[in-house]
Order: sequence, then structure tokens, then C-alpha cells
Amino acid sequence: MKQIVILASGSGSNAENIISYFGESKVIKVVAVLTNKKNAKVLERCERLEIPAYYFNKMAFSGSESLVQMLQGINPDLIVLAGFLWKIPSALINAFPNRIINIHPALLPKYGGKGMYGIRVHQAVKDNLEPETGITIHFVNENYDEGAVLFQAKTEVVPTDDANTIAQKVHQLEYEHFPKVIEKLLLEDGE
Ligand code: GAR
Repeated sequence: MKQIVILASGSGSNAENIISYFGESKVIKVVAVLTNKKNAKVLERCERLEIPAYYFNKMAFSGSESLVQMLQGINPDLIVLAGFLWKIPSALINAFPNRIINIHPALLPKYGGKGMYGIRVHQAVKDNLEPETGITIHFVNENYDEGAVLFQAKTEVVPTDDANTIAQKVHQLEYEHFPKVIEKLLLEDGE
């Protein structure tokens, strides 16, 4: 059984979608969700879905080895960032080389980097009159949104779209593709 740990900071709709997608799988399982926000909605979702969820603070994340050690204890095949907003420390990247992926709600290298997350990304796409946007799934390295790209998908932006409608279109792409990209990565990887 391939094991996934998800890191999420907010609503967790992608986390829920991934958990549900693999709910009946005999080969891939989401074993835990970790969050850096005590009141994140993702915690409620995990309770309902009966998936173990843990909160960690900044100190555990980057100021010590405790999160790395906890993750090494689980030894997941893949760590999935699904709306996770802190930069991943080198110690974690080095402990899981090529085993951490992120989803970004735009067509990287456009609209990436520090401070570019969620609705801010979609507002920038709108303000710049982009004719299209999309999603990027990529490996995580030491720099925000710069690791090797695994997958991209596009959606059209029309003049009547606002940041919220763009967000909805992008979320649809995320729900459709993120679990499948994870599945492909895990099943092609030595099985
Ligand atoms: C998703 O759209 C994800 O791509 C984005 O946050 C949203 C989380 O939604 N991630 C980033 O902006 C990372 N820079 P969710 O909590 O409902 O899954």
C-alpha cells in the first residue's frame, strides 16, 4: 500500500477530494493530514472522513526536527501540499527527495512566488487581463513554486469572470486532475 500524507492550511477541499478519490483504493491511502492552522476547516473535514489530522506550530515546522521525525516515522511514499502556505524547510526536502509535490492555482512560472496564493493569484490573473489560467502540479524545492513541473492544465478566462469565478474554474481543474496525477506518480514509481 502506497501512503500519502497531505499538508493543508485552509479549507481543504482538495484534501477532501484526494481522500475521497482514494477512499476505496486497495493500493493508495491517505494516512494523515497535517495543518499549520489550529482552526483550519480541513480539520473538520478530516474528522468527518475519519482521517487522522494533526496540528503543528512554526517551531515544530522549521525550528526543530520534530516534524521531519514524525514524517519519517510514517515514512509516506508521497507528501502532498494541497493549499499549504508555508515554505518547506530544507531539512524536510532533504528527508524526502522527489517525494513532496505541490499544487499551484496558476500556470507557473506566471503568478507564483511568495505571497501568491489563493484568491490573490486569481485577482492578479484578472487584473492582467489574462486570456487563460490553470493549475500547475510540481515537485517542491527550496524556492516557492520553482520545482520541476509534473502537470499543467488550462482554463479560459473571459471578461465577465471575476477573481471568484476564476477560482471556481481553477478548483474544478484541481479536483479533476490532482488525484489522477498523484495516482500516476505513485503507481509508476516502482510498482
Ligand atoms: C487551491 O486552489 C490551491 O491550488 C491553492 O490554495 C487553494 C486551496 O484550496 N494553493 C496555493 O495558492 C499555493 N500557493 P483548498 O484548501 O480548498 O484545497
